[in-house]
Amino acid sequence: MIPRHIAFIMDGNGRWAQAHGMPRYEGYKHGLEALLRVAGRLEQRGVGAISVFALSTENLSRPKDELSAIFDAVIKFNKTYFGTLRINYFGDIDALSDDIADSVDDVERRTSINKGTSLNIALNYGAQTDIVHAAKLAADKGSFLEDEFLSSLSTAGLPPLDMVVRTGGERRLSNFMLYESAYAELMFMDKLWPDMTADDADAALAEFEKRVRKFGK
Ligand code: FPP
Repeated sequence: MIPRHIAFIMDGNGRWAQAHGMPRYEGYKHGLEALLRVAGRLEQRGVGAISVFALSTENLSRPKDELSAIFDAVIKFNKTYFGTLRINYFGDIDALSDDIADSVDDVERRTSINKGTSLNIALNYGAQTDIVHAAKLAADKGSFLEDEFLSSLSTAGLPPLDMVVRTGGERRLSNFMLYESAYAELMFMDKLWPDMTADDADAALAEFEKRVRKFGK
C-alpha cells in the first residue's frame, strides 16, 4: 500500500555542508533540492500528502546566518515554485517577517488549484504548542469534543499520517507532529538530508509496504 501521508524530519543539512568543506548554512539550499527530488518521486507514486519540518520554534534561536539561509531557501522556493504540488504552510507564520508571510500567501494561492499531492511545510512550528492551542480553542467553544479539537490542529484536513522518516541518524521526533504520529510507522535513516535521492523515496515506500500495522488491535 502507498502511504496516504508521509512526513520527513529533514536532518543533517549543516553536517552535510561541513562534510563538503562549506559553512553549515550552505546546507539548506542543497536540502531544498533534495526535498524537490523526494517530493517529485512521491508525487509520481501517488502519495496524497507530504509534510516536512522546515523550522521548529526552537530553531529560531539558531545563529543568524543559519536562520537567514533557511528563510532565503523558503522565500526562493515560494517565489519560484510553479509545479504541480499543492503547497501549504503550517506553524506560526504571522510571527515571521512580512517578506516571508507574503511569499507564503503567494505560493499557497498560486498552487491551490493543484488537485494532486499536497506538500505541507512546518515553519516556526512546535507540536506541543499546537496541541495546547487546539485544546484551548476547543475548550473556549464550550465543548471538549475530539472532533472540535482535531479541527483546531494546524494539520486539520490532512490525511492520517502513515509514516514519519527522519534522516541524519538521530532517533527522535523532536516535537514534530506528535498527535498525528500516534500510529505512524517510524523510519530512521543515517543518510544526511541533502543526499536524499528519488530512489531513497522509493526505499521509504518499500519499507512502509513491509510494515504490519495493528493500530493497537
Ligand atoms: C535540520 O538540519 C533541518 C533544518 C533546521 C531545516 C531544514 C530546511 C530546509 C532543508 C529548507 C527547506 C525549504 C523549504 C522551502 C521547505 P540541521 O542543519 O539542523 O542538521 P544538522 O545540524 O544535524 O546537520
